[in-house]
Amino acid sequence: MLVIETIEEMQAASRALRRSGKTIGLVPTMGALHDGHLSLVRASRATCDATVASIFVNPTQFGPNEDLGKYPRTFEADCAALERESVNLVFAPSVAEMYPEGACTWVEVEGVGGRLDGASRPGHLRGVATVVAKLFHIVGPTRAFFGQKDAAQLAVLRKMVRDLNFDLEIVGCPIVREADGLAMSSRNRFLSAEERQRALVIGRALRAGSALVEAGETSAAKLLAAMRAAMAGEAGVRVDYVAVVDPATLEVIGDVRSGGLLAIAAVVGTTRLIDNVLIDVVVPDATSVVRVPEENFFAAGR
Ligand code: PAJ
Repeated sequence: MLVIETIEEMQAASRALRRSGKTIGLVPTMGALHDGHLSLVRASRATCDATVASIFVNPTQFGPNEDLGKYPRTFEADCAALERESVNLVFAPSVAEMYPEGACTWVEVEGVGGRLDGASRPGHLRGVATVVAKLFHIVGPTRAFFGQKDAAQLAVLRKMVRDLNFDLEIVGCPIVREADGLAMSSRNRFLSAEERQRALVIGRALRAGSALVEAGETSAAKLLAAMRAAMAGEAGVRVDYVAVVDPATLEVIGDVRSGGLLAIAAVVGTTRLIDNVLIDVVVPDATSVVRVPEENFFAAGR
């Protein structure tokens, strides 16, 4: 496995791969890798000839009062994990390499980029779209792999690829969870043992919503009420948003008859966590059964 730190070398390596007819899978990350990240690597390995993982803690997607300074950095362990997964290339540029003095061009995805996390964290999705557009130009992947865990990010990147005609396929991958249902996140390590327990309320609330859907409920108001009631049961957890939206546009929807996204963001202690469940509902008529895909259910609590 080769670790590359400059854009020029990365572009040359990608060019060589493309010239030899190989498909390239790109897995962008900010490091502090866990099994969620590695599931993306495995999806790339399964469908592409060569896999490039990037590790870059992108300063432009952090707000002034956010956790850029204390974001976990575990570069050696990350490289060891990527090596075990047979990744071909790791792209790990410095901030100066990615944002040279005077860089002032941004990718702003209007509308969808200002909803959910885009509303709570102004500028966040602009920073994400900008750095991912740069990574796409630098690596030139055939496919790029992203987790459904960051549903707003995924929606914004899909829109960006369509609007700016990037010649690649975005692959969304299912959320990987701990055994107790907590969605894996690099930020989970900031939780104390007590906070870790409290954080489980997010999964419980999503389960309350998806259980209602499974029972035939399609009204977003009813789902929201159930999820909010579940969240209210846990002191010390501050709700940022509880939402039922269209997964592509992130616009609020009134019912989930044609599918939908149940999404929650909450702050536990000082750590902001997000999680969601994608509802793939089939309701062609009043007598049909509402279906939530199996992979959206949590391992725990079933
Ligand atoms: P990061 O938070 O490191 O996540 C990298 C990728 O891993 C994202 O696509 C994210 O959705 C996915 N991921 C994280 N937790 C996951 C889980 N539990 N299950 C499945 N996938 C999971 O997201 C970013 O970095 C950055 O915004 C980035 C896209 C790299 C741009 O800077």
